Order: sequence, then structure tokens, then C-alpha cells
Amino acid sequence: TFVVTEPCIKCKYTDCVDICPVDCFYEGPNFLVINPKECIDCALCETECPVDAIMEEKNVPENQQEFIKLNAELAAIWPNINEVKAAPPDAKQWETEPDKKHLLER
Ligand code: SF4
Ligand code: F3S
Repeated sequence: TFVVTEPCIKCKYTDCVDICPVDCFYEGPNFLVINPKECIDCALCETECPVDAIMEEKNVPENQQEFIKLNAELAAIWPNINEVKAAPPDAKQWETEPDKKHLLER
């Protein structure tokens, strides 16, 4: 299973959704998640994300562990997204922000 982690918050470039063969991305106000029950581990999305927010579950670092649970939890309540859309206008300025967890909107 692949997991979307902190760098996606407020960047939300959506390049990932275009490449996913099983359309298992779900969209919140400023973050995307992967449904772990649907992901087939193809790894295609990992290199699509410009901010390297996506990684295999076993590679998720210690300080990002909460995102494993968050992807499962939010994928169950957020709507599916399978088409690329424009990133937030200020996405660029959030790319290098190290601490964005508190900014995740539900
Ligand atoms: Fe979709 Fe493949 Fe990424 Fe899983 S690893 S979310 S199936 S693109
Ligand atoms: Fe987020 Fe990267 Fe996809 S910023 S929306 S995980 S391309």
C-alpha cells in the first residue's frame, strides 16, 4: 500500500490521480489520500508527485506514521478524485514548509 504524507498538505498538485490505474485517490479540502483497500501497489504515483509526498507504507518515516492511519480513515469519508485539477494558487510557497500537519483540513 502507498501512503500520502505531509508534503501534500496545501500543495495538492493532483498529478498523482491521473496515473493511478485503479482511481484510489480521495480528496479533502487541502490534501489527498489513498484508499489502502484499493491500492494495488503499482508504484506509479510515487514518482508523479512533485513534492515526494507519496511512499510505500514500509518506507514511511517515524514522524509520518500517523498518515498511514489518516489515509485509511479519510479515504472512507472523502470523495473520489480521478482528474487533475489546478493546484491551490499558493501551492508553491508551501512546498518547503516543514511543519504542515496542523494545517490539514478535514
Ligand atoms: Fe494508485 Fe498505484 Fe499509487 Fe496505489 S501505488 S495509489 S494503485 S498509482
Ligand atoms: Fe498531493 Fe503530490 Fe498528489 S502534492 S495531490 S500527493 S501529486
